[in-house]
Amino acid sequence: MPLVRLSNVGKVYRSLTGDDYTAVQDFNLDIEQGEFICLLGTSGCGKTTILNMVAGFEHATNGVIEIAGRAIDGPGADRGVVFQGDDSLYGWLSAIGNIEFGLKMRGVPKAVRRVQAKRYLEMVGLTGQEHKHPTELSGGMKQRIQIARVLANEPQMLLMDEPFAALDAHTRAAMQSELLRIWRATSKTVLFITHDIDEAIILATKIGVMHAGPASKLKSVIDVTLTAAERDRTHDRFVSTYREVHTIMRDEVAIAMQRTH
Ligand SMILES: Nc1ncnc2c1ncn2[C@@H]1O[C@H](COP(=O)(O)OP(=O)(O)O)[C@@H](O)[C@H]1O
Ligand SMILES: [Mg+2]
Repeated sequence: MPLVRLSNVGKVYRSLTGDDYTAVQDFNLDIEQGEFICLLGTSGCGKTTILNMVAGFEHATNGVIEIAGRAIDGPGADRGVVFQGDDSLYGWLSAIGNIEFGLKMRGVPKAVRRVQAKRYLEMVGLTGQEHKHPTELSGGMKQRIQIARVLANEPQMLLMDEPFAALDAHTRAAMQSELLRIWRATSKTVLFITHDIDEAIILATKIGVMHAGPASKLKSVIDVTLTAAERDRTHDRFVSTYREVHTIMRDEVAIAMQRTH
């Protein structure tokens, strides 16, 4: 049994003033335990809609989404969400305070949660920065804190919605390596949203390419079999994988551009 199964999932956004909008339709995907799945698609194709439904923030209007065989009907501690922006951190709490927050809410005693929070702070490479507040941290550091905060709650699964999109290219590359290291160390299941082909090939064990919207569904699923050493933009196998994914994406980009320009 897959960890997550999306069966014929659809999402219609109801409008009070204009026409209803079908963002996603007949979307099918199985996510196996320990997999790193990247959902790749053009802007507005419905990636966030899918992630929000798996997170339980939005209800599917059609179909079923199951986790470990149970239908999802709301957010749960089994799924940790890392958002695109860094403004989801609590500005009045220090780095360590942010990481501890979920543990505190669950009633974990102070001494215990401090030890756990420090472990995750170390895992994301921020030992020594624990007393800084979000305004004193760079964008990359804030995303590390978000990841540590989510990991501290020990979810089965990480849901990440373009978490590195706002970072500069070098920080972004560093964060991708960091995330892969954490994924290997923790063997979490990851659903990662991106519109960037390179990012998907660097990270994923499997890439799901979405059609341009409306009524988007999966166009193609590609198994990425590259070794760690081959996940380098200059490697021949990386380039040939890029070419394969780019060919699948090309028409969808053209459709999306026509709709928005
Ligand atoms: N709350 C909403 N109400 C109406 N339409 C929405 C809402 N959220 C998203 N949409 C529309 O659904 C489509 C998919 O959005 P989204 O899932 O955010 O795309 P992506 O994350 O791939 O850029 C877009 O056309 C968007 O405008
Ligand atoms: Mg989005």
